[in-house]
Amino acid sequence: MTHPRILLTRRWPDAVERTLSARFDTTLNTDDHPLSAAELQQALREYDAVLPTVSDRLDASVLAVASPRARILANYGVGYSHIDIDAARAAGLTVTNTPGVLTDSTADLALTLMLMVARRAGEGERELRAGRWRGWRPTHLVGTRLGGKTLGIIGMGRIGQAVAMRAQHGFGMKVVFQNRSRLGPAQLGTLQATQLERVEDVLAQADFVSLHCPGGGANRHLIDAARLAAMQPHAFLINTARGDVVDEAALVHALQAGRLAGAGLDVYEAEPQVHPGLLALENVVLLPHLGSATRETRVAMGLRVVDNLVAFFEGRTPPDKVA
Ligand code: DGY
Repeated sequence: MTHPRILLTRRWPDAVERTLSARFDTTLNTDDHPLSAAELQQALREYDAVLPTVSDRLDASVLAVASPRARILANYGVGYSHIDIDAARAAGLTVTNTPGVLTDSTADLALTLMLMVARRAGEGERELRAGRWRGWRPTHLVGTRLGGKTLGIIGMGRIGQAVAMRAQHGFGMKVVFQNRSRLGPAQLGTLQATQLERVEDVLAQADFVSLHCPGGGANRHLIDAARLAAMQPHAFLINTARGDVVDEAALVHALQAGRLAGAGLDVYEAEPQVHPGLLALENVVLLPHLGSATRETRVAMGLRVVDNLVAFFEGRTPPDKVA
């Protein structure tokens, strides 16, 4: 029996590339370059499965390719707002993602950003490396504690809950949240968290706001100028979700005007471009989309894709089918 032809759009962990190569007729992206729209279309024409990730823009125009051979987009990552799901369905493509396995790594990174921005860790490191540190003094780079503060979560799914657990049980934070569906004790377990009706209600109460909703669609610019103005001036905004959830230009204005204490960002509207206004601000911590970047998680994400592909080509429903 001939093996399905599959294409990985980026380099993946070695162990997963080996597993895929043993099971499928696998083409690797050996130089790891981001694929252009034309290359993605060629992939859709020539392979049975395309294995994209967040750096691939699979919008309606790319997916409108004539006579595609591909039948599945097995995405490497939990977020899939880079794929136009309606257009994928119209092209007869099944779409899968990799939920669950990156929850802890992403939650850890959200806490990293909270601590870094509140304790001014980025500022301190830049100062020290530049040879500008003049020694210990009582008023030097004084920050804010997490303990006793209120964390506001927007989007209380797996990652939002994991962040809330760490913040509450590890740092003694109070948690309020907004979520589309109502969550009760069955979902929240040992977490003492108050669900509020509107995003604005959370913004008004929180000392730290952490975003954990999907990107794209109605969530584009969910945090716009008006919602930034609804935050407390001493509050910090943390984004490990998707860049387009925040209006980056409005965030820069709010920070420049001192209407917000700071921000910790892992994701950006036009990755890998970062708004120059953000780069110029001291009270912003900027990481290059590292949420899931641990060895354990990146391998687990890949193995999740393997499970989805094997199920699909055996004629079963893939465990992580989203379309
Ligand atoms: C995810 O899995 O959504 C990560 O952000 C990488 O795409």
